[in-house]
Amino acid sequence: MTVVLETRALRKDFGALTVTNNVDFALEQGARHALIGPNGAGKTTFINLLMGNVAPSSGTVVLAGQEIDGLRTDQRIRRGLVRTFQINQLLTGLTVLENVQLATIERDGLGNRILLARQQQRRAAEEAYALLTSLGLADVALSKVSDLPYGRQRLVEVVIALALKPKVLLLDEPAAGVPPADSHRMLELIATMPTDLAVLIIEHDMELVFRFAHRITVLSQGAVLRHGTPKEIIEDPDVQAVYLGAPKHD
Ligand SMILES: Nc1ncnc2c1ncn2[C@@H]1O[C@H](COP(=O)(O)OP(=O)(O)OP(=O)(O)O)[C@@H](O)[C@H]1O
Ligand SMILES: [Mg+2]
Repeated sequence: MTVVLETRALRKDFGALTVTNNVDFALEQGARHALIGPNGAGKTTFINLLMGNVAPSSGTVVLAGQEIDGLRTDQRIRRGLVRTFQINQLLTGLTVLENVQLATIERDGLGNRILLARQQQRRAAEEAYALLTSLGLADVALSKVSDLPYGRQRLVEVVIALALKPKVLLLDEPAAGVPPADSHRMLELIATMPTDLAVLIIEHDMELVFRFAHRITVLSQGAVLRHGTPKEIIEDPDVQAVYLGAPKHD
């Protein structure tokens, strides 16, 4: 398999606290990979480092065979490395369609134009609507984001990430705060994603993790405790000790 994203000895110290401890990690094309670990294990920081939202203390991030340590976040996004946030970042006063449309405009490097040609605007709207339709969300296209239930808002956030046409998609707790009855929609959405897209998901809900993931990495105190298949992870006594036996999140 082709590795699309890799870290080599990636490290982040916040003062005396080592939050990412020489992490070696590889994500393959088409991966359905989960990153788990207790609260404060360094999962979100790892994604921040991958995206360039936080500068590493040392180590390297490699995307599609090229070191990207010198690139800004927007440059990484243009190369196909895209994330969603643990807390949602939607423009809640706009409609779902407008949010997705803005993502396509941004992706095409047209975001800094004050006036877009009407044709470009229409093309962006059509693409956004087609994407929402393909994902079963056409019925909410014209709804204001703030009028949607939270579970739907989180789905829209993932759709926006998909509109950026990622090669690698990093999802930071996409189902956090979503009522359990609705979290299956997130799984359905992930199931419709292109098979060559590499997906890394941070998730505390073990049921979701085991339904989604083919491989799992466990972080503990910033270091990789284990990489393995779901079966290997669930049976691992060290993992059970640090994570599965720990009190549940939230
Ligand atoms: N900017 C920062 N400055 C100082 N410490 C930070 C900073 N960002 C994160 N940390 C610390 O790094 C550690 C890891 O935080 P991080 O948010 O990556 O954990 P997490 O695994 O995502 O946790 P959770 O499951 O609660 O989301 C925590 O101890 C946190 O307080
Ligand atoms: Mg986090």
